[in-house]
Amino acid sequence: MPNTDPIIEHQFRVGILTISDSGFKGERETDVSGDTIAKMIMDSNLPVVKRDMVPDETQSIADTLRLWCDSGEIDVVLTTGGTGLGPRDVTPEATKSILDIEVPGIAEVMRMKTFEITPYAMLSRSTSGVRSGCLIINLPGSPKAVRECLEVVLPSIPHGLQIIRGAGWLHDDA
Ligand code: MTE
Repeated sequence: MPNTDPIIEHQFRVGILTISDSGFKGERETDVSGDTIAKMIMDSNLPVVKRDMVPDETQSIADTLRLWCDSGEIDVVLTTGGTGLGPRDVTPEATKSILDIEVPGIAEVMRMKTFEITPYAMLSRSTSGVRSGCLIINLPGSPKAVRECLEVVLPSIPHGLQIIRGAGWLHDDA
């Protein structure tokens, strides 16, 4: 019988959450960073199973992440935006508020590796971690930053998901 475990086949289901006040209000015509993530994911032959945009509000971000992770329908949530130093940049705090465990190394390595491209990499406060067996990774908001950071972390995600699954974080029916 063929092995249909999506993680063992190195497949995983991705949700993309764009966090942007202006995008949410329709002031920005397209979600270029969300599109950039979607293209990179689909170019890797991985399915994007959810996509949405929320304003830079802690409650909206946390509620969406909680809902998506607890659904059992998504293995990895990639957020983009709201990781900087402005008063409305609350993505890291919202993410931390719903995590079961933090996985700081993912965000640390994104900053470290892409610092070689731009010193501004240090200005992202992005975090990463696990909720209900789902890996959440904050990416910065610009399409350029998204591309640079995702290239760094994407190769390690399948092994991370295997460990998460083996550690028993997933719901029985997931
Ligand atoms: N990381 C990479 N790799 N490339 C970039 O261009 N831009 C930085 C940083 N991280 C950048 C990056 C900048 S200018 C900012 S302000 C922060 O991400 C936060 O961005 P955000 O508030 O849009 O999330």
